[in-house]
Amino acid sequence: MDSPCLVHLTLTLLAFLNPCLMTPTPRVSFPMGSAGRRLVLFSSHDVRNTTTLLLSEDGERLYVGARDAVLALDVSRKDAILLRSKLDWSPSEEDLEKCSMKGKNKVDCSNFIRVLQFLNSTHMYACGTFAFSPRCMYINSENLTQSLTADEGRGRCPYDPYQRNTAIIVGGELYTGTVADYRGNRPVISRHLSEGSRVDLKLDDTLGWLEDPTFISSKFIPQEQKIYFFFSEVGREYNFVDKFLVSRVSQICMSDIGGQRTLQRRWTTFAKAQLLCQAGSELPYNVIQDMDMLPPAEGASEDDTLFYGIFTSQWAVNNGRSAVCAFSLTEIKSIFSGNYKVLNRDTLQWSTRVQDKVANPGECGLHNASDNALRFVKENFLAEDSVRPVGRRPTMVSAEHAYSHLTVQRVQAANKKLYTVLFLLTESGHLHKAVLLQHGPFIIEELQVYQPPQAIRSLKLSVPKGMVYVGTSEGVVRIPTANCSYYWTCAQCVLSRDPFCGWDPVGRACVEVSETQTALSQDIDGANVEEACNSISLTHRGKFGPSKLPTASCPAGELVSVSLNEVVRLHCPAASQLSQQLWERPNSRLSSDLYLHLKDGSLSFVATPATLGHYLCLSTENGYRQTMAIYRVKQRSNPVSQTPTGYTRLHTRGQPTTQAAATPGLQVSVGGGPKTTASRPAETKTSLSVRNSQVTTKQLGRNVTLWMEESGQTEAGIPGGKPVHSARCTSFLKELVVVSILLVLCLSLLLTITLYVLRQRCRRRTAPVTGSVSRNSERRTPEEQEALRENEFGSKHNGQAPLGGHASGLVCNGNLTDSTQNLPNTPF
Ligand SMILES: *[C@@H]1O[C@H](CO)[C@@H](O)[C@H](O)[C@H]1NC(C)=O
Ligand SMILES: *[C@@H]1O[C@H](CO)[C@@H](O)[C@H](O)[C@H]1NC(C)=O
Ligand SMILES: *[C@@H]1O[C@H](CO)[C@@H](O)[C@H](O)[C@H]1NC(C)=O
Ligand SMILES: *[C@@H]1O[C@H](CO)[C@@H](O)[C@H](O)[C@H]1NC(C)=O
Repeated sequence: MDSPCLVHLTLTLLAFLNPCLMTPTPRVSFPMGSAGRRLVLFSSHDVRNTTTLLLSEDGERLYVGARDAVLALDVSRKDAILLRSKLDWSPSEEDLEKCSMKGKNKVDCSNFIRVLQFLNSTHMYACGTFAFSPRCMYINSENLTQSLTADEGRGRCPYDPYQRNTAIIVGGELYTGTVADYRGNRPVISRHLSEGSRVDLKLDDTLGWLEDPTFISSKFIPQEQKIYFFFSEVGREYNFVDKFLVSRVSQICMSDIGGQRTLQRRWTTFAKAQLLCQAGSELPYNVIQDMDMLPPAEGASEDDTLFYGIFTSQWAVNNGRSAVCAFSLTEIKSIFSGNYKVLNRDTLQWSTRVQDKVANPGECGLHNASDNALRFVKENFLAEDSVRPVGRRPTMVSAEHAYSHLTVQRVQAANKKLYTVLFLLTESGHLHKAVLLQHGPFIIEELQVYQPPQAIRSLKLSVPKGMVYVGTSEGVVRIPTANCSYYWTCAQCVLSRDPFCGWDPVGRACVEVSETQTALSQDIDGANVEEACNSISLTHRGKFGPSKLPTASCPAGELVSVSLNEVVRLHCPAASQLSQQLWERPNSRLSSDLYLHLKDGSLSFVATPATLGHYLCLSTENGYRQTMAIYRVKQRSNPVSQTPTGYTRLHTRGQPTTQAAATPGLQVSVGGGPKTTASRPAETKTSLSVRNSQVTTKQLGRNVTLWMEESGQTEAGIPGGKPVHSARCTSFLKELVVVSILLVLCLSLLLTITLYVLRQRCRRRTAPVTGSVSRNSERRTPEEQEALRENEFGSKHNGQAPLGGHASGLVCNGNLTDSTQNLPNTPF
């Protein structure tokens, strides 16, 4: 039988046929430590492996299940997270010894808290792996003291800390999905802590109700009095593919008390169905990673409840990709009330039921049904149809980001319209905030919340307090759901499409939308600045810089002094990662023979009498144009006396003793030494790069400083002094150098265009991407960037992010401003 092979091949082909996935680009990106998006961190040297987070109803207290401890954190303060109390709960020496004797790693023998739930108004219930011998206990929520003795935790918590589980307490009873044995091959969904006539229940494990599952989540739906479990498992109904994983939703009724003879102390209401996160005939995203529930809007029916899940694919072709799918409760209910598949005991094949329907599987209240009916539900637990996502396709697909956790919120915008906002965590430690619009998701912002190799364990949203909590293996990070004051013009505020934020025309500030707020300017769907801000485009106004800074007025253009025949590079900060930068000269066209538009938005050209003069850098986003920078390029009259020190210093650095000023950047990037001279000639030839010989402009306050590109860390190490002015200025080789530079310029232009066209072909179909390359470079470590720069096509970009980069600031008030905080802009 080679059908599995065939299926794999088909699936692989399917994946390749659709390489251009819809991948929205985050509009703005905040690297770790950005002032525009401050994180509040809680960590402590003796708190490790925080896995479980539990928020109090009022959002003032955050309980954390960590390794050998349960913590209560005070999160009511704006500036800090404080430790209120801590309950140590670790295995004894004896327990640890026993665990080690079983051949387990010593650290894995700690007590990893995996269940932490409120039991009643005064107590919590917690379970931990406890040296591969799980235990549970009651904890007083107020002072974190243990009450009563510890319970056995079998069936409530995994033995192995690396195994996933889920738990929820409803009505004082604990519902769990976990493995219930030491080896980890007896998965169960069970109920504990039942009292009186209610008995603890579990799955009947003779029939394989679960097939090697990974439990993800469990949710309670009050109106239905049902608990839904979400997990992935081996899809036995697809027996033609080896170990084909499927995602499932399963249900049980709270009223269940088991059967009287058949299914005694077993669920009589268990049913499961496949969750299919798939677009058309594409390869399904078959492995569920996380799930969050979005309750219905106020006044709407509970059937409007939505479940948002992150799904990845089991196949390598989709490695690193993920999808978000939303499933409605209505759809889930209809699938469970439909037909069920039946397993042929002899052939072990699943088929559509042919026998008569004796009972309705999944129906609540079957406990005193006949044995016949119970035998029927016992064998018919897999729904015939799959649950399909809302809109019959994924809400969002990302080819670039492997999302691992999500949380979802409904936000009322200024016009009272409701928007769904998703907070998504990537494997690389970034939080994406996305708003779902008619035409698809829009990623409002991206912020880095931790540095790998830490692992994220949980994500919690506090709607009343407007906070997102991320539990990493090392601590807890808190981020406000929005920082509206980061957008300091009406245009930025509107372009952000952030439903949390609106422009207050009276207070002239981007503020958080609240119930009491008066009319705010906001346009989530259209982001139409002209309309929302009630003004005409303020393009070409010779004023830029943040209005709140004292010296907002700039001279009509920053002065850039150059020598003739020097390669000049003018930077243009991007308003956002979705903006397009363009250059203009008054009364002159920027002919492509003379000008090179670089990928990062900067402009490069050779200084000649014809190219001296004014340059205007504009940024366009969603039809709105704004001036980002104005430069005046002027010939230096007396280089020796007028050259700013930075220029001199950097040129010294870039002046190899051996020959031509052709590879200064390279020298620095490889760190000097013998490698420098050895690799230079080859590099000059192959890279066809403008970067090597060019002078970059940057602005430090009012002083215009010219320096070589790879400044940063290496700069300090270069001895200053020696005002050497490039050989190319004085030597008779000048013409030759100019010609070579022009040649290099032309070639790189050609290649850039080719590359650009190739890239755009894919991208144009999807999203207006401009910043993805720079964004990637931002995430790399400096070492990686250096390494990349050596290999990379020089003209692609120079590692300076258009936004959020380290040194691309451009301001008028004498401070070098990180562009992350303040976008040069046209204030209103
Ligand atoms: C919000 O942004 C403003 C402007 O960049 C910054 O000064 C402020 O610290 C930020 N606030 C937070 C909580 O990140
Ligand atoms: C909560 O549960 C604990 C443990 O069963 C019990 O001791 C306590 O009295 C309960 N509190 C309330 C308010 O019911
Ligand atoms: C606990 O944390 C350490 C380091 O952060 C990590 O290596 C280890 O895998 C974690 N253990 C578990 C069970 O998650
Ligand atoms: C069935 O269960 C209910 C309670 O759930 C009980 O009142 C009733 O006597 C039981 N037997 C029958 C035959 O309904």
